[in-house]
Amino acid sequence: MQTLPLIEEFVPSLIAIRRDLHEHPETGFEEDRTSDLVASLLISWDIEVHRNIGGTGLVGVLKGKKGAGPMIGLRADMDALPIQEETSLPYSSKYDGKFHGCGHDGHTTVLLGAARYLAATRDFYGTVIFIFQPAEEGLGGAKAMLRDGLFERFPCDRIYGFHNWPELELGQVAVIPGACMAGADFFDIEVKGRGGHGGMPQQSTDPIVAAAHLVSALQSVVSRAVDPVDAAVISITRISSGHAYNVIPSALHMAGSVRFFSDAVRDSVVSNMRRIVEGCAATFNIGADLEFQKIFSVTMNDPDACREVLEAASRVVGDSGIAKLTRPTTSSEDFSEMLSVIPGAYFFIGHGGKKPLHHPEYLFDDGAIAVGASILSRLVEGFPGRHRKN
Ligand code: NI
Repeated sequence: MQTLPLIEEFVPSLIAIRRDLHEHPETGFEEDRTSDLVASLLISWDIEVHRNIGGTGLVGVLKGKKGAGPMIGLRADMDALPIQEETSLPYSSKYDGKFHGCGHDGHTTVLLGAARYLAATRDFYGTVIFIFQPAEEGLGGAKAMLRDGLFERFPCDRIYGFHNWPELELGQVAVIPGACMAGADFFDIEVKGRGGHGGMPQQSTDPIVAAAHLVSALQSVVSRAVDPVDAAVISITRISSGHAYNVIPSALHMAGSVRFFSDAVRDSVVSNMRRIVEGCAATFNIGADLEFQKIFSVTMNDPDACREVLEAASRVVGDSGIAKLTRPTTSSEDFSEMLSVIPGAYFFIGHGGKKPLHHPEYLFDDGAIAVGASILSRLVEGFPGRHRKN
């Protein structure tokens, strides 16, 4: 492994920062302490800081000493999950029901490591924009930063984001050109029947029997309506209704998530789900309202930006460390919103913590800090000087 020696020198203090963030996890748009800590560190390294971009989001700006060149955005997410931690680590979450179960404490630290190194060396052309994003976990932090004019104020030529990936080993890195993570919609279905006596169903219109058929029928969208060569997921993740053994309830609520890798598949899934919900309502004589919320776009990697990541990563982990990950993943990522505005790439950094992301015993491997920070730094240093397009 060829991590940058100066970054290795910073590692003990970076680990201390990571564990402090881990002990004090903050969920989406409540990252006040995290944001304060990041700002004070950036300022202590002479990096210009702009706060309150997308709520608790913030941006650091650093110019290289080699002269004019591109504006490169590096992004990390800062939010924790509403999960009870079950790791029994000495630096476990101090807050009940909040946990850095996706390793965003690690991502924040990786970006801080690159910031400290680049501020100390400034051996690059152009300007680096360090983007510390709030609320990645389905709450729209990327969109909030975009709404606050992130790329109007800091018009990046390229952006890069990354995620720790427990399925890869420490020292492995992967980047998937094109669609690399799924887009996602969340949906709610309100089923309205007529309540009554559990022993006399003929007097009511039962939303539960209708919903049971609906759950099965909706699965036929993926198996029968989506081109088998494409991929989609429909998961019903919540059903709630009823309160007694002998009462047929009058209403039922179900909710879930749809995943897809293209807008065409998304549109087809949505219209087919509508058709089935309407058909089910007619069949069972109930009312049914279906509502979608667009949560994540498809994460689309730019092929040139992927090559740049591979070049930088192979200088750190060697050619043998580049994992042959070619299949996209059906998890989602809101860096996709930034990638839909600025070309860039989202890549995966392997590590030794083997519990899956979002598991209550998930463990971020601190060994990934130097790897990630070195790759981000190499990416910035690898850009040739040139005048901005505009
Ligand atoms: Ni995550």
